Amino acid sequence: MAARHFLTLLDLERSELLDLIRRAQQSKAEVKQGILKPTLPGRVLAMIFEKSSTRTRVSFETAIAQLGGHAIFLSPDDSQLGRGEPLEDTARVLSKMVDCVMIRTFKHEKVLRFASHSDVPVINGLSDSYHPCQLLADMQTFFEYRGNIQGKKVAWLGDGNNMCQSYIQAARLLDFSLTIACPDDYRPEPEIVESAAGHIEITRDPEQAARNADLVVTDVWASMGQEQEIETRAKIFSPYQVNRDLMSLAAKDALFMHCLPAHRGDEVSSDVLEGPQSVVWEEAGNRLHSQKALLELLLGVRH
Ligand code: CP
Ligand code: NVA
Repeated sequence: MAARHFLTLLDLERSELLDLIRRAQQSKAEVKQGILKPTLPGRVLAMIFEKSSTRTRVSFETAIAQLGGHAIFLSPDDSQLGRGEPLEDTARVLSKMVDCVMIRTFKHEKVLRFASHSDVPVINGLSDSYHPCQLLADMQTFFEYRGNIQGKKVAWLGDGNNMCQSYIQAARLLDFSLTIACPDDYRPEPEIVESAAGHIEITRDPEQAARNADLVVTDVWASMGQEQEIETRAKIFSPYQVNRDLMSLAAKDALFMHCLPAHRGDEVSSDVLEGPQSVVWEEAGNRLHSQKALLELLLGVRH
């Protein structure tokens, strides 16, 4: 049987995503009571990181450890990937030894290529185009604080990047409306926007996006791999900062999220990031719980 991969959020059905969120909430509550359920004993997760990470690495390592398994960290610097061994060969070799592979890389096409040569489930731990694992945690966090996100208004401020494109897929899957405020040259891919037609509005005006939003989200202005554009982008994106004035246009009980790492004073002001509407620390912590549920789903654990 072909392995089940998680390369974008659309690899899940709506009902599966809702179940995953429920399961994540349940296991989070269990962990709080000191209950660990090792449902994946002896299973091994290999993690390939071609970009830096704090949250993704630690949450996956902790997730598989709590489930009774083990993680292996691989970077191009200390594996044969960095010396030119083809991705396809690496995928086939890892498939003979481990039970699941997480990959964080640049072009999304590399994730697809890896998955097409893997006999075990592959998880996209972030590519230039998508960051689906972060959306699991973000959606879990919204449900935790406010209940179902269906019919709510979400505002995305800033770059039409990998996070934004995963939000577009979430809007389609969970049936909420997403208003993206971004400069003209930094819009998400038109085909991705098209695929969620009816759920997405794009504007240049940050205030239009924030008005009456139930959730306000932003991300760095220059993603990993765009370091040489930091200064240019800082100028172009400055009107899109999420600050107190912008948050005052959102619904009274609006939440603020950011996948982190954050740059205080750039895409978000310090008082919003540290303020009462910000749920960024809970959001980061939920990476652990939602990814435990994801690993169980992909590796066939039944509850
Ligand atoms: N949000 C996120 O993916 O963080 P890391 O880059 O630290 O993994
Ligand atoms: N858009 C950011 C997300 C980091 C978690 C990046 O790709 O660097």
